[in-house]
Amino acid sequence: MKVLVTGGLGYIGSHTVVALHEAGHEVVIIDNLDNTNIGVLDALKRICDRSFNFYERDIRQQESLEEVFSQEKNVEAVIHFAARKSVNESLKMPAAYFDHNIKGLINVIATCEKFAVHRFIFSSSCTVYGDPDVFPVTELTPRKKSPTPYGNSKRIGEEILEEYASLKPEFRVILLRYFNPVGAHESALIGELPLGVPANLMPFITQTAAGIREKLRVFGKDYETRDGTAIRDFIHVMDLAEAHVVSLDYANAMQQTNIDVFNIGTGTGNTVLEVIEAFERVNNIKLNYAFVDRRDGDVEKIWADTEKADSVLGWRAKRSLDDMALSAWQWQKNIDKK
Ligand code: NAD
Ligand code: WQD
Repeated sequence: MKVLVTGGLGYIGSHTVVALHEAGHEVVIIDNLDNTNIGVLDALKRICDRSFNFYERDIRQQESLEEVFSQEKNVEAVIHFAARKSVNESLKMPAAYFDHNIKGLINVIATCEKFAVHRFIFSSSCTVYGDPDVFPVTELTPRKKSPTPYGNSKRIGEEILEEYASLKPEFRVILLRYFNPVGAHESALIGELPLGVPANLMPFITQTAAGIREKLRVFGKDYETRDGTAIRDFIHVMDLAEAHVVSLDYANAMQQTNIDVFNIGTGTGNTVLEVIEAFERVNNIKLNYAFVDRRDGDVEKIWADTEKADSVLGWRAKRSLDDMALSAWQWQKNIDKK
């Protein structure tokens, strides 16, 4: 299929471009380079041994999206990654988050409608479950209002797509709720590129190991978990990328419904200390870390029930926490060389 990937030079988008290419799809990329750089395009070329049509465009401008769809002709599916993703930043600039994440989404849907593109995959998040009451969370676990504009932009995005799909039976939508993507492609040519001080655990670990940060702060050691630190479902970004490929196949095949939702995690929760331990062990590095108070807004624990993705999509995560920790460090070492 000819697949247009918005945000395709970002962290998850770039890994998905590789997976789509490997599965034989033709990929077109849109990105406004807000949270990445053009070097990722060269890296993709090296990994895939081919170049991709790339358009530096902002999804908030519908006319410029239309130009791309019209120039490319016959786009058959859209995978929509482009969004702002910082929970904290969204509290400071809510309007910007609604602009990128909601207006941008609406523009992409409207352009799909205009050009009769009927396959759509949306990057949603486990953040839609908020602080859940059941473990693990299934796709039927209720969505909760989030304390942050970022979290709400994902919940509202899902709601917009549900309503749209209910009115447009020809439009087939897959909502993928990602858990905590970490790690990098085995080439170490692409990976996560956090701007400034990382808010997420794995980039903070790798930057501490690299000496860019003095010390990792572990937020909270008094959670009711096996070692007192919070639990998340960390998933290798290449496993996550591959989930998009099978989702495209499913979008083509689905018959009972024209919208479906899947948890994309490993099905296993790991504590923050377990991640640190795995990182230290597989990379033979001693990490400088200290316990501090819990971080505001953090949930104690969440991990995915992945039974639905397994039985319906035939997809399950293959890579281990060790693979995640190894590849994240390989990537960090490579960034430092650039
Ligand atoms: P990222 O910031 O690395 O990638 C997003 C890409 O979109 C960037 O390259 C950025 O330049 C681009 N972009 C942003 N606004 C744009 C705009 N207005 N027009 C065009 N391009 C724009 O983020 P990511 O981690 O790859 O996340 C991808 C998607 O997955 C996002 O929708 C995010 O909300 C969602 N998600 C991410 C995580 C995570 O932990 N990384 C978890 C759950 C969901
Ligand atoms: C994981 C654990 C931290 C940094 C975020 C978004 C969520 C979704 C996934 C997009 C927590 C602890 C972290 C550090 C630490 N993204 N930690 N020291 O908070 O689960 O989710 O990414 O949709 O919306 O909120 O991920 O990597 O920030 O934190 O101790 O320096 O690591 O407290 O327990 P989180 P994270």
